Parts: sequence; structure tokens; C-alpha cells
Amino acid sequence: MPTSKPTPTSKVLDRVLVMEMVRVTEAAAIAASDLVGRGDEKAADAAAVEAMRRAFDMLEIDGTVVIGEGERDEAPMLYIGEKVGGAPGRGPKIDIALDPLEGTTITAKAGPNALAVLAAAEQGCLLNAPDVYMEKLAVGPGYPDGIISLDRSVRDNVAAVAEAKGVAPDEIIVCVLDRPRHAELIAELRAIGCGIVLIGDGDVAGVIATTDPDTTVDLYMGSGGAPEGVLAAAALRCVGGQFNGRLLFRNDDERARAAQWGVEDLDRIYRLEDLAKGDCIFAATGVTDGSLLEGVKRKKRQTGERVMTTESVVMRASTGTVRWVRAEHRIA
Ligand code: FBP
Repeated sequence: MPTSKPTPTSKVLDRVLVMEMVRVTEAAAIAASDLVGRGDEKAADAAAVEAMRRAFDMLEIDGTVVIGEGERDEAPMLYIGEKVGGAPGRGPKIDIALDPLEGTTITAKAGPNALAVLAAAEQGCLLNAPDVYMEKLAVGPGYPDGIISLDRSVRDNVAAVAEAKGVAPDEIIVCVLDRPRHAELIAELRAIGCGIVLIGDGDVAGVIATTDPDTTVDLYMGSGGAPEGVLAAAALRCVGGQFNGRLLFRNDDERARAAQWGVEDLDRIYRLEDLAKGDCIFAATGVTDGSLLEGVKRKKRQTGERVMTTESVVMRASTGTVRWVRAEHRIA
């Protein structure tokens, strides 16, 4: 059985803030939804970023972006280190990891699983991950601690989960990003006989899929963005599950960048608490339909009034509460 201790509730992350976070992801998702299927990734991302930035101003927080759209010289808005929130110097000090549009290509092509996401925690509780790749391994809740490890082979991880689940290894379903760099991993999984859910993009949703039996996904494997790894870890802290992440460096420049961010051990395996510790909140709103959430839809009420509907999820680590929020927004 899992042995993790309960997370104490943070006074800084006020209960009200849990609901307020949804407004922020809703705003980003609605803005991006205008660009779904329009073939313009940059425009979709920019719309989401701008809307999320504005929505933060409505929150009574003294927030700092720790995972954002890039470094100050790369991103005009929501860059790492930017202060957000309407109460600088007086509101609760909160660190924020965000991705206003997780799945820019998905959105441009009207594919599944594009999300607006953020995670919030007390100052210093989210890993300031450099924007490099991360090798990821995740499993849903209900397994003994340490059942998966990046130090073990693909075959051993699959076998351990299969044994604990009481099924044969070839009954295990693994979600993997469809990338040429994963050819070897995919071949290994095929040799075991696993089912593979190949996704085009969006590994935050891919990791979270392991926590939902309806998706049938048991494991997530493969590399993707390190910032997305922190966001996914925050979600797993709330709903349970286990995660291993190891930063991957393609060149000396990336290694130097990591050193600047305070990464000393380049081979370190990060577990959930290393990526998002203490109490934290995770919020996401669907931009396009997906395994986690429905996307933004335009509808007419019976009165003839036109509205947009959104579906969001917001979760908190200390309480484990998961709220599903369906909203109708008037189209101005
Ligand atoms: P963007 O929304 O920034 O395009 O990220 C989508 C994504 O699929 C992430 O979910 C994932 O972590 C990363 O890209 C993988 O990177 P790459 O496309 O370089 O394989």
C-alpha cells in the first residue's frame, strides 16, 4: 500500500484561491479557443498568454512566475521571474508554474487534449526547472511507493506494475509521445506486448491520464519538456500517483543553463516532492476535447443568448479535493 504522509494545509494558499485559479485557466482557454484549427500556433499561444496575464491581475496575490513562457529576454509576458497578481507586496507570496496553452500544435490542428494549466504553491515549493527535456516515468495511484524507477529498465518497470496490478505485462497500457526519439522505447514496449497510446503532443494530459482508470493508461514513459514535468507532478501530488523525472541535456549550453538555475546533480532523479512540495493547487481548463476535459464550446441558451462553455478541474494537494467546474460564459 502507498505509505506517503498527508500534506499539511497551507494557510497561504487560501481556500478561496483554489476557485480563483480556475478563472485564470478559463480565461486562457477561452482566448485560445478562437484559434482552434486555424493553423497558427503562435497566435493561439499569444492569445492564451495575454488573457492569462490579465486574469492574474484580478487575484489578490503577490505571485511570482517560476515556470513560464521562457526567460525574460525570450518572452514578453509571463516570463520566469515576472510578478503577477493584484496585490504585490501585500498579498500572499505564491509561486506559479504555468502553461497558458499546453499543446500549441494541437490547438492549431484542432487535435485532442490542449489545455490551459497552472500550478500554485507557497514560495520556494516548485522546482525552478530549466527549459530542457526531461525523461519522465509516471504511474497512477494505489501502487506501493517506489514501484517505478528511472534506474530500472522499461521491462522491469512494466513487470513491476503488472505484478502489482495482477495482470500480465502485455496487458499494461503505456502512453508515449509520438516522436522519432522514442523509437527504441516503443520497440521495447512492443516486444513486451504492451498497448501503446501514442499522443501527438500534450504530455501533461498524458501523465495525468495514468490517474484516471477510464483512460486505461497504466504508465507514462518518455521525454518531454521539463516545465511540463513540474506541472504534471503538481497534479499527481493532488490526486496521487508516482513520478520520476530526470533532466536531459542536449549540449553544454543546456548544462550551463541548468547550473544557472541551481541544478547541481545533472543525473538526479526528481520525485513528486522534489518537483512540487508542500501544499499546492493544480488547475486546468480544456481548450480542445480530451481525456481529462472537454474543450471550449460555443452554444446558444434557450433564450437565444450565445454562451461559451468551459470545463475545468482544480485540485489541492493537502485535502486531495478534486473539483470539476463546468461554466457558461456570456459572449459579450
Ligand atoms: P507546446 O504546447 O509548448 O507546443 O508543448 C507541447 C508538448 O507536446 C509538451 O506537452 C511536451 O512536453 C513537449 O511539447 C514535447 O516537446 P517536443 O515537441 O520537442 O517533443
